[in-house]
Amino acid sequence: MSTTPKFRAAQSAIRELPPHGVVGLGSGSTVAEFIRILGEHTVREDLDFLAVPTSYQSYRLAIKHGIPLTDLSRNPSIDIAVDGADEVDQQLNLTKGGGGALLQEKIVASAAKRFIIIVDESKLVDRLATHFFVPVEVIPFACDIVMRKIADMGVVPHLRQAERKVGPVVTDNGNFILDLEFPEPIENPAEVEVALKMVPGVVETGLFVGMADEVHVGTASGVFVLRQ
Ligand code: 5RP
Repeated sequence: MSTTPKFRAAQSAIRELPPHGVVGLGSGSTVAEFIRILGEHTVREDLDFLAVPTSYQSYRLAIKHGIPLTDLSRNPSIDIAVDGADEVDQQLNLTKGGGGALLQEKIVASAAKRFIIIVDESKLVDRLATHFFVPVEVIPFACDIVMRKIADMGVVPHLRQAERKVGPVVTDNGNFILDLEFPEPIENPAEVEVALKMVPGVVETGLFVGMADEVHVGTASGVFVLRQ
């Protein structure tokens, strides 16, 4: 069995789960570890969860690992959501969307009583937008006008290009992703988030401000937890 930092973070989040309830499944490679471990517990019947996935990735992984699925219409309140992040600042604000799943991830997180982030140490930063661009999901119809308005804010938007498909990435919701290159790390993520969401055509941003309750950080030798 692999004992990578991502695995340690995922295992630590598993220990936070009550024996049964509704769990939100984030997306990404760290969450893939979490889903695999949750599946093992589901098969052993010591955990009994209905899961709300946040992407086709987590939907398919949940099915593969035998985790029963539900949705926000049947279960609008989620007991605990577990997700990864691209960056985590000292106030536990996040950037997410490296895998392009930020919209459903944010909706599921907003419906969760408890939102747990699982990362390795490389994701911890003083300020957001240090190592990663900030993704925003935009409606294709509005893509070019949104790019112009964002450029007017002094931020460089890059339309995310697909790999092994020509043209832009199309999200699970049929939208495009702009990766925003800030001139310097973000001082006030809440202000930036509001400014971005005021642009018509922006569906959601990858800035998750004040949403995470705790962050489980896997390291080469163990795990530690940051709490609000
Ligand atoms: C997907 C996400 C992921 O949670 C984020 O990119 C982290 O992924 P990984 O665990 O693979 O580093 O936000 O949209």
